[in-house]
Amino acid sequence: MTRRGFLEWLVAALAAVGGLLALAGLLAYLRPGVEGSWGAVEVAKAAEVPEGQAISVPFKGSIVLVIHLGERFVALSGLCTHDGCLLRWDAEKGQIICPCDLGVFDIEGNVVSGLAGRPLPKLRVKRVGDRLLVAEP
Ligand code: FES
Repeated sequence: MTRRGFLEWLVAALAAVGGLLALAGLLAYLRPGVEGSWGAVEVAKAAEVPEGQAISVPFKGSIVLVIHLGERFVALSGLCTHDGCLLRWDAEKGQIICPCDLGVFDIEGNVVSGLAGRPLPKLRVKRVGDRLLVAEP
């Protein structure tokens, strides 16, 4: 292969790679449930949250608590509205507990007891295949 032939081949190969990357980005944008179409972010794989259990995961600079209940997933802020403590899911009681001041929230984020004066913000959550996607309301 001549030097000119090699350079032409290299330019064509780089153009093909660039085209594929652009196409992949376009497909990711158009696919439902992927960030960009409704602002969702994949926070976990569904298998990471067994039924009845919950997981705390990072979400846009904060923490979200994703709870798996039967066929559905619920996503709420993972930080207490009283003083920002990290919340945990009590599977036996079916409640969200704040260990700092013993605040208690129900599955909808409503305050059950404790010092928190505001309910937990809810987020949108959707299972797409094996992925859990979360978005702001
Ligand atoms: S920080 Fe949660 S009840 Fe005070």
